[in-house]
Amino acid sequence: MADTAKLIIGDKTYELPIIESVEGSSAVDIRKLRIETGYVTYDPGSGNTGSCKSSIAFMDGKDGVLRYRGIPIEQLAKKSTFIETAYLLINGELPTPEELKTFSVLLNDHSLVHEGMRHFFDNFPPGSHPMHILSSMVNSLRSFYPEIPERSEEEEINKKVARSLSKVRTLAAMSYKISRGFKVIYPKPELTYAANFLNMMFDSPVKPYVIEPEMVKALNTFWILHADHEQNCSTAAVRLVGSARTNLYTAISAGISALGGPLHGGANQAVIEMLMSIEENGGNLKPYLERAKDRKDPFRLYGFGHSVYKTYDPRAKIMKKICHGILEKFNISDPLLDIAHELEETAKKDPYFIDHNLYPNIDFYSGIVLRAMGIPINMFTVMFAIGRLPGWISQWLESIEDPDWKLHRPRQVYIGSGKRDYIPIRKRNI
Ligand code: CMC
Repeated sequence: MADTAKLIIGDKTYELPIIESVEGSSAVDIRKLRIETGYVTYDPGSGNTGSCKSSIAFMDGKDGVLRYRGIPIEQLAKKSTFIETAYLLINGELPTPEELKTFSVLLNDHSLVHEGMRHFFDNFPPGSHPMHILSSMVNSLRSFYPEIPERSEEEEINKKVARSLSKVRTLAAMSYKISRGFKVIYPKPELTYAANFLNMMFDSPVKPYVIEPEMVKALNTFWILHADHEQNCSTAAVRLVGSARTNLYTAISAGISALGGPLHGGANQAVIEMLMSIEENGGNLKPYLERAKDRKDPFRLYGFGHSVYKTYDPRAKIMKKICHGILEKFNISDPLLDIAHELEETAKKDPYFIDHNLYPNIDFYSGIVLRAMGIPINMFTVMFAIGRLPGWISQWLESIEDPDWKLHRPRQVYIGSGKRDYIPIRKRNI
């Protein structure tokens, strides 16, 4: 492998260093490109740009591979829990039993939210989307939990990590209860992270919630599959906002805002709404497929396609299995699953989807799993956000410790008008 690349502009040749990756694409280092040549690169969506070096997640879009800190997600989904996977992502190694215990205790200690935060919920207009509420609440954590200068940096960071992971889950469940006018259920120290969430969501003083181990396992796996996905849109937002040296909560709040979009995490809600709309319209797939293929129509087949995977999303394969397992175990018959199957089979044979390499992504089957758990549709993306927390936290930590850290400040190719003079208002449109 060459250690430099040559770039020829006019009669000049420039040598650009190459940064080798362990696996996947290596990079041409263009940090001096503008200074030396006066040119910038043009890469809308940054699909050809390595914005950082990272050792957290590895993706191979051609073969459908995803690993966290080197470990295939298939192994983690089968054997790990969300909290153990979060520890792995944040600390780089799987925890020892002692480390896992200490981490769990820390999470439990930080699981309650300041009572003052409850009043926030009163002032959002009815019908506010939970993702908007969550993003605001998470940003406000910095005001409720300011940094304490006497604490060592490590202690302060551990607290921030625990608060983010634990309080976001509590806030999410609280927002659901308050939005329905139900009594808020507090976390219980004897329950695991996932069991606690389900209990906070569904327990009631008049109807105790029965925690089913299979639901807890499914939720753990759901969150593991969402835990990190290298430099996706929301993680890039976390890194970008964090690059201005904002605090972790503000950076995560930016990540939540980005995740809410229907092309990103919001797709899990968009998929279910699409499947429900197909059902309401008598199950006829044709108009939906035709609209998805029409370039003039902004509609897309939600839950299909991915910026990196040009094959079946490895997370979707596992999600599909969980979906079947949970529906079977609890004897749930969901007509949306039949529609999803039919849609997948039809798209698989359609030249448009074949030619564009469009396969189901993680969001295609995840909503059916969440429906089976009883999660309301407008909370689906919040479930994704809880799962993505370890990724956002680990990427933020990696970025603040990176010796190559820079304030994000992309350039542009200006295509506006040349210099012109100001025209006084009375002389305009004459
Ligand atoms: N339905 C119809 N056409 C599609 C779809 C789709 N779901 N996805 C991509 N295409 C077409 C697109 O119209 C374009 O066609 P052409 O080249 O003829 O103009 C081509 O495929 C390339 O699409 P792109 O948007 O330029 O490129 P992309 O690969 O970066 O798109 C995507 C990635 C996720 C934005 C897109 O596939 C999409 O909009 N999917 C639906 C939304 C969705 O399910 N999002 C969840 C992604 S997985 C969760 C996450 O990690 O965020």
